Amino acid sequence: MTITAPNARRHVDQDIFRDVIGNFTSGVAVITTNHADSRFAVTASAVSSLSMDPPMLLVCLNRRLATADAVSDSGVFAVNILAEDQGELAAQFATRHPDKFRGVQTAEGKLGVPVLATALAYLECRVTERVDVATHSVFMAEVQNAASQPGKPLAYFRSRFGRFNDAIDERM
Ligand SMILES: Cc1cc2nc3c(=O)[nH]c(=O)nc-3n(C[C@H](O)[C@H](O)[C@H](O)COP(=O)(O)O)c2cc1C
Repeated sequence: MTITAPNARRHVDQDIFRDVIGNFTSGVAVITTNHADSRFAVTASAVSSLSMDPPMLLVCLNRRLATADAVSDSGVFAVNILAEDQGELAAQFATRHPDKFRGVQTAEGKLGVPVLATALAYLECRVTERVDVATHSVFMAEVQNAASQPGKPLAYFRSRFGRFNDAIDERM
């Protein structure tokens, strides 16, 4: 079953929805891509693993974002998972600015997208399907390259960044 046309009638107040869904604690990622010789990036928590065979994930981006258009046009993006001390980086990529990448060390990934050198992990993906729902596009994508480094994740709970205190990384 595919449902892509949500009922315009709201059953739950938006403020209540924001308040309640904020309890779903997530990691924080920066979605990056490259299109027409320009780099695009946006902070996102709406990221989910989708399938193991083949390895797939999905990200949800507001269609008003330049990054959403760039991902549609390029067909490739990277999910850069932030480390616990990168709250400022998350804020930087969540705020409109002519150069969101200022002061940020990047490398070029195998798919030609910028990857954040200091991120906890990154996954380079090729889009297989885009579904537009309400204000957002859901990009489903195959993971083509992925790597991680020792560290702990940045967490996001009720509109605030924090630490996952019990995180254990045996490599550290
Ligand atoms: C922690 C956090 C998570 C976010 N998650 C998403 C998301 O999953 N999808 C999305 O479209 N916007 C998300 N946003 C909002 C975008 O980051 C923000 O609207 C965007 O960076 C603004 O970019 P612009 O100023 O270039 O338009 C999130 C913001 C923050 C701070």
